Amino acid sequence: MSLIISPSLLSCDFANIQRDVEMINNSNADWFHLDIMDGVFVPNISFGFPIIEAVKKHATKPLDVHIMIKNPDDYILEFKALGVDILTFHYEASTHIHRTVQAIKQAGMKVGIALNPHTPVYLLTDILSDLDLVLIMSVNPGFGGQKFITNSLTKVKQLREMAYEKNPSLIIEVDGGVNLETGRLLVDAGANALVAGSFVFNSESPKETINSLKSL
Ligand code: DX5
Ligand code: ZN
Repeated sequence: MSLIISPSLLSCDFANIQRDVEMINNSNADWFHLDIMDGVFVPNISFGFPIIEAVKKHATKPLDVHIMIKNPDDYILEFKALGVDILTFHYEASTHIHRTVQAIKQAGMKVGIALNPHTPVYLLTDILSDLDLVLIMSVNPGFGGQKFITNSLTKVKQLREMAYEKNPSLIIEVDGGVNLETGRLLVDAGANALVAGSFVFNSESPKETINSLKSL
């Protein structure tokens, strides 16, 4: 499978959201990454259901939704109703991980678990075979434009090793501080999906930037 590129709309121009969604439709990107923050689990509030709805109206590619919220179980059906394709919640935000994973699958979405920079990958040992995706956070969640934490590379390598045995088709996605340099290292470590926000949207030609990431 080729490398999946999921541009994060957190860095798009919200006053021109249709334009930016169409740019991604017409680019070599694979997914739309949408960051939902509640101001409780993370020290920031991004956007909620109406923006997902607006994006879905124009998007021709899957919605990869990363929820940084407490009590993710309470909103699963609402995300499904909005047309979300992949729902990724935080390991640190759910007490009954197995229940949350099964509820997302039963709702008919692909399921991912996100790990904060301090959360070791071995904690996923007994749930890995149930997952479609693991999202390794390479910055502390909450904001775009932060510096890549290099220990994430070790985590990606460890997780890829674990996945060989337990879930060979696991998608390992990495989020935070991704650019061509960190992206190269991540792919070499075993990542097969990259999220990029500021690197794409702050560049002169976002489409070209997506192309360069895609060909890593
Ligand atoms: C941060 C979000 C990211 C963010 C990444 O909490 O999960 O998706 O948009 O931004 P960059 O690529 O600028 O680090
Ligand atoms: Zn994200």
